[in-house]
Amino acid sequence: MTQPSKDDGAKTLERLQSLDRRYHLHSFTDPQALVQAPPFMMETAEGCYVSGQGIRLLDAMAGLGCVNIGYGRKEMVETAASAMEVLSYYHSFAAVSNPTAAALAGKLASLAPEGLNKVFFANSGSEANETLIKLALLYWRRKGQPKKRVIITRDYSYHGSTIATSLLNGNTAMQEEFGLDAHGEVARVMAPFWYRHGGKMNPEAFGLHAARAIEEKIVELGADKVAAVFAEPIQGTMGAIIPPDSYWPEVERICRRHDVLLVADEVVTGLGRTGAWFAQSTYGFKADMMTLAKGLSSGYYPISAAVVSDEIAEVITDRQEIMQHGFTTSAHPVACAVALRNLDVLEKDKLIDRVSNDIGPYFATKLIELEKHPLVGEVRVAGLIAGIELTRNKETREQYPEEFNLGGHVGHAAMIRGVIARPAGNALVLCPPFIIKRGEVDYLVSALYDALDDTLKLMKQQGVWP
Ligand SMILES: Cc1ncc(COP(=O)(O)O)c(C=O)c1O
Repeated sequence: MTQPSKDDGAKTLERLQSLDRRYHLHSFTDPQALVQAPPFMMETAEGCYVSGQGIRLLDAMAGLGCVNIGYGRKEMVETAASAMEVLSYYHSFAAVSNPTAAALAGKLASLAPEGLNKVFFANSGSEANETLIKLALLYWRRKGQPKKRVIITRDYSYHGSTIATSLLNGNTAMQEEFGLDAHGEVARVMAPFWYRHGGKMNPEAFGLHAARAIEEKIVELGADKVAAVFAEPIQGTMGAIIPPDSYWPEVERICRRHDVLLVADEVVTGLGRTGAWFAQSTYGFKADMMTLAKGLSSGYYPISAAVVSDEIAEVITDRQEIMQHGFTTSAHPVACAVALRNLDVLEKDKLIDRVSNDIGPYFATKLIELEKHPLVGEVRVAGLIAGIELTRNKETREQYPEEFNLGGHVGHAAMIRGVIARPAGNALVLCPPFIIKRGEVDYLVSALYDALDDTLKLMKQQGVWP
């Protein structure tokens, strides 16, 4: 076969971009951006790098915080191919299972915090969270308390984009755009976001204050109306908001005191991101239910899990009545095989240990250097997740208006310098693969510093600094 010439390559790219513009409805995309410019085509990936249109980028976001073991691993390809050969598909309805689903459920139960032993499989983080909203309602109904229906959630949270999970999100545009209404069954409280909302309190006092906002809400609504508190241990997409250490143990105490279920959305934090298998152990608390998704297969195949405690499992399965919930591709045999192999890679290569004891501390030490930059108010790091808080004034912690999209400007400048960091309003989020090397961290930090400088220079030229 003759190789296509360079011109053919350009023509192929142009044709694909025009097909994409014409027929592909993108996730979370401003359609006008696609009118103004064609989509960027990502074509290949390996290790910590992604490439497209002749450009190679250090992906400090591991896709969307999911490619924890790195891109393009041959063992993952082989596992998927052989699993597909053996059993390309079967469902899990009506008491049917398959060997990889059974093995993965057992493996997750053995890794999960004590008592979280029953696993439901879905395809995305949204579906796993949606599942737990339903299971929380089912649990209370089966316990004879059907009025316990309100879910407490927090500002800045992100739990997904199905209808029910959108209703939990801190980003209210996700509700307004579609006219969604929770009819009083979702209540939102403050986030443990010390930098923006801590005022003169020290972080530990503020952590307790933010936890008690949950208690106040439970008391206001009546504990007999509240089903669950839904929360990400670290709020990832909205800026990697790392709570003060005092927060989580207090939230757990409050939930126990008022007989409210605590649901940990570990879609981002689960399976090693904070340097422990689960962020629950990093922050010293235990949830009644948790969700896992991104790091479950490192993005090699869509799969997620909703894990519930023995007590909840007992209540929801103790009668002869079909649980009216499930997906065609729940417990997909290939997805489960891929997830098992991904867990195997994490263990064999000691990647979580690497996050907690080697590359994580190095990443933190280097990244903190960015606090010297005039635009950076705070760098927060836990394991290999980090938020870089941007500010107009380091003393007063004043922010630029959201419309200014400061994070977007810095993210764009970083990309020009060969690095992917995710803008989140007045912050940038980093979630690099666990295999990132020290030299790559050095490159990342210097590229970010330069990108901050580029942005500052532009702001000065445009008269918007300070
Ligand atoms: C904490 C958290 N929960 C849930 C989701 C939704 O996951 P998915 O996009 O797989 O539906 C995300 C996605 O970013 C997330 O960050």
